[in-house]
Order: sequence, then structure tokens, then C-alpha cells
Amino acid sequence: MKLKIAVLAGDGIGPEISAVGVDVISAVARRFGHEVTYTSALCGAAAIDAVGDPFPEKTFETCQEADAVFFSAVGDPKFDNDPTAKVRPEQGLLAMRKKLGLYANIRPVQTFACLLHKSPLKDELVRGADFVCIRELTGGMYFGEKHEGDDYAYDTDKYTRGEIERILRVAYDYAARRRKHVTVVDKANVLASSRLWRKVAQEMAAQHPDIKTDYMYVDNASMRMIQEPTFFDVMVTENTFGDILTDEGSCISGSMGLLPSASVGDGTPVFEPIHGSWPQAKGKNIANPLAQVLSAAMLFEYFGLADEGKLIRQAVDASLDANVRTPEIQVEGGAVYGTKEVGAWLVNYINTAK
Ligand code: IPM
Ligand code: MG
Repeated sequence: MKLKIAVLAGDGIGPEISAVGVDVISAVARRFGHEVTYTSALCGAAAIDAVGDPFPEKTFETCQEADAVFFSAVGDPKFDNDPTAKVRPEQGLLAMRKKLGLYANIRPVQTFACLLHKSPLKDELVRGADFVCIRELTGGMYFGEKHEGDDYAYDTDKYTRGEIERILRVAYDYAARRRKHVTVVDKANVLASSRLWRKVAQEMAAQHPDIKTDYMYVDNASMRMIQEPTFFDVMVTENTFGDILTDEGSCISGSMGLLPSASVGDGTPVFEPIHGSWPQAKGKNIANPLAQVLSAAMLFEYFGLADEGKLIRQAVDASLDANVRTPEIQVEGGAVYGTKEVGAWLVNYINTAK
């Protein structure tokens, strides 16, 4: 297969983990005889510094011309600490999602047996947890009408029936291929937008009698996720709730550095880790590249290349089993592996796997 990939490395640890991800994609492509070409483009703080825009038109064009976007992270403390900044790196990520029409963000939450002890939760609670959060990505408060004044400010949480229906369809699609259980997470006891979600979800549940649908308020869901994470199979929710719940989900796995995601919809799909740019670690060769690498697995799988994805997942599992780990998931007293060294190990595994 021929694949054109737009590489948006972004800020902070982005370029370091992106380099590892690209090496892994190239190694897999060589093994399976695929022809992959890469085009790098600017986004986030790096793009603001270079051209004053966190998602420049040229980057948008590069994304549109590609088959997939391989994205890393955006964000820089110089903007975080300045609430008056007119342009922010995060706007680049939001613009990319909106302009490419990527309304569905697929965030799998999985555990790795050898890392259970890294979870702040008890082993017996997280063992076997395996669910997918389907986060709506182009609506809600992130994109609703806003006002930012000195005396008052507001955001609006607006959803249309069409937006809710299309994200629920994605959730039912996933559930049909998994354990046939959808949990719709909302705040229908308070929010009007959530009541529309629930109404549309109830209609759709009736059309899917083979799939069990339940409804949970977001506050309750956030508790259930740590009390009984194995309860969930497919969770579907609005943009803001999904953002918050998936950070919580990363604690189940033991590290944010382990969770990949895919953003899909109308335009070029984007594959990215769920974590941010971790500016404090920039250039230190300590960032965990596995979430980025697992995003590469999701990329291949999106194009129906299941064996390619499987080989990447095997390489990741093998690296963890061999204690080839970055500091935050290292075994006490184990050897020290940096971002690059983990990457080199993975590439070697892919090159030599039987
Ligand atoms: C995420 C991130 C982004 C979001 C930020 C960086 C804008 O937290 O992808 O979860 O809130 O969507
Ligand atoms: Mg987030």
C-alpha cells in the first residue's frame, strides 16, 4: 500500500516521540512492503513562533493532501501562564480537528499486565480493564459561542441532533465488534444539551436491541471508572467530559505515556497520543514514546492493515516485558532507557521478529 503521512510533531516532547513513531512506521512498512512518504508541517507553539498561527494554512493543506496525520503534542508554558495571550498553541489542535471534520476521537483504555503495579489503583481492580472512550470532538463547549470579558465570561455547550447521532453511530459500531455494551455518559439531570444526548441515545438504543445500552451521569461515571473499570466496554460522551474522563482513564493503565488515540470523521484521520507536550521533559530523552508508537498501530489498523498493527503491539509488549522502559514506568533498579533507546529497541524487534 502507498501511504502519504503528514507528520505534525508540535511542541515540547513532540519532536522526540514523533521521531520514534516515524522510525517504527518505516520499519513496519519495510517489513510488509508498503511505500510510505512523510511530509512534516508546523503546528502549535512552534508554528506561532515561526509564522504567528498555530495551524497555518500550509499545514492544513499538507494534512488534506495526506492519507493520515501523525500528530504528537502541542503546548508551551509561556502561553499557559499568560491568560491574555491572543493566540495559543492548543487552538492549532482544535483548528485541525474542526477543519478536518474529525468528530470522533477513539481513545482505548487498556492495561498491561506487567504494569498493573504502576496504576495508583489496586491490581485486582484494574486487571482486565479494557474499554474504549468515544469522545465527541468538534462540538460542545470547545467550539460553542464564547464571551471573554473582564467582568464576565461564558462558554456554551451546544449540540445538534445530527452531531449526537453520528457519534452514537460510531459507538454502536465499536460495541458491535466488542462486548456489545454502550454506556452513554452525560449530565442529563442538569444540562439541556445532555438531555438531548439522552433522548437521541434512547432512540438509537431501541434500534440496537442486540447491544446493551446504559446511561450514567458524568460524576457517577468518573467514580465508577476507578471503582470498577472493568464495567465499561464502549463509553460515549461529549467533548469536555471525554477530555476529562480519558485523563482519568490513563491512571488505570498506569501512565499517560501509554494511551494512543485516533480522531476520525470526514477528512484525513489523525493519530495521536492522548498526553500533552510535557515541556519540562523537552530534549531530556526521558519521554515515553509508547503512546505515540501505539498511535502508529492504530494508523495501520485504520487502513485495514491488522498484521502491521499487531506487530507494533507485540513489539510494545515485548519491550515492556524486557524492562526496556522510560523512567516513569521503570522497574526499580532496572536499566535506564531513554526515548531514543526504547525506539531503537522497538525498531530492532520489528526488523528481526520471526
Ligand atoms: C486532549 C488535549 C486537548 C483537548 C488540549 C491540548 C486542547 O487535552 O487531546 O485531550 O483538550 O482536547
Ligand atoms: Mg485532554
